[in-house]
Amino acid sequence: MAAFTTLNLDAPQNYASPSLLAHYDAGVLASSNQTPNNITTDKGATLGRVLFHDVRLSFNDTKSCASCHVQSNGFVDPNQFSTGFAGGLTTAHAMRLGNVAFYQGNSMFWNKRATSVEDQATDPIQNATEMGFDATHGGMNALLTKMKDLPYYPELFTWVFGDSAITEARIQNALAQFQRSMISANSKWDRAYAVVYAANGSVNTPQNFGRSLAGTNIPAANRFSTSEDNGRDLFMRGPNNGGKGCAGCHEPPTFALDPNSKSNGLDLNETVIFKSPSLKNVALSGRFMHDGRFSTLDQVLNHYATGIQAGTARDNRLPVGGIAMTAQEQADLVAFLQTLTDTTLNADARFGSPFIK
Ligand code: HEC
Ligand code: HEC
Repeated sequence: MAAFTTLNLDAPQNYASPSLLAHYDAGVLASSNQTPNNITTDKGATLGRVLFHDVRLSFNDTKSCASCHVQSNGFVDPNQFSTGFAGGLTTAHAMRLGNVAFYQGNSMFWNKRATSVEDQATDPIQNATEMGFDATHGGMNALLTKMKDLPYYPELFTWVFGDSAITEARIQNALAQFQRSMISANSKWDRAYAVVYAANGSVNTPQNFGRSLAGTNIPAANRFSTSEDNGRDLFMRGPNNGGKGCAGCHEPPTFALDPNSKSNGLDLNETVIFKSPSLKNVALSGRFMHDGRFSTLDQVLNHYATGIQAGTARDNRLPVGGIAMTAQEQADLVAFLQTLTDTTLNADARFGSPFIK
């Protein structure tokens, strides 16, 4: 262990009970997609951290999960498509992982084809483009054999599970624990909202989300500009109430998607129901939507204002043709989305690479 990583197994870091701003209250934490079968522990998430950052989990030792889910970018690849182990490109944009725990639909990938965070976790390893342990390269069994022969995994699995057996289920559980620990609770929006939350009953209600964050009650460092606060207001309020209804789908305080959301009308006659990752850190994504078709948030807002297309997958909350918005309103919404950047999570050493070789 010591030869390969900086980990101190005698003093694992805290993942199981992180200290978060108070609006991540019992109700929010209970909305996690964690199940009783895989409760996060400090040891399990630590193993997940090693797995997540280990290029040896790819066929030719070149790609780890972190190659495409880059911490400093909010755990995403800012390129439209990501380069896999043999140089091939993915066909979808990577997805941010902050607040992945709070997608109550649980299903993972843009088109929801994986049934849980656990189920998703070994898919990229076996993907012929991404990490390369597909059937032609021996599949999962070849990886399990490879891991058994690496000096640190038998020791780590014993530390976590009590015996050295390396199984796909254990890998999935550890990766899921690590990823669910990537909670984004410290963006500018969080720090400002924490003030109104504390002053107004310590409850997450539409009324509290609707309060101004531009007043002198908010400490200057986190106080919203006029544009940011107008954007917040448009985001939070429903369309029958003077707003644009974004929060109905991208739900505060986690900004995870409403599990009942359908698609947002990107293409005419769309039949696939897509999800979105939490909007936390969205401004660092580089590209937007499942195919990364937009390269700026202005283009995203232009889509919502003028581009919504008819199709059976479209959610009725989004009117064909678009939601009427002025250029200023679109700019304000972009300014608001930028307040969701969480540099604390993106620099938190608990989520960085533990490897020294
Ligand atoms: C070569 C780039 C690449 C690598 C390596 C990679 N991913 Fe991804 N990841 C993606 C892309 C692209 C998507 C979206 C794919 C899609 O929806 O079809 C994605 C989606 C996901 C999602 C879904 C998030 C959500 O909200 O639905 C999770 C979770 C995830 N990856 C975790 C991992 C883990 C864990 C690993 C390592 C075992 C990993 N990824 C390795 C590119 C990558
Ligand atoms: C009916 C639910 C719904 C509403 C309302 C909605 N969205 Fe979305 N949003 C989605 C879905 C679904 C996606 C993912 C679409 C895809 O990639 O296929 C998405 C994607 C996004 C993305 C890109 C995320 C990424 O990771 O690339 C941004 C930014 C965004 N929405 C902002 C907004 C804003 C701002 C509003 C209000 C004007 C809004 N949304 C209203 C459902 C909704």
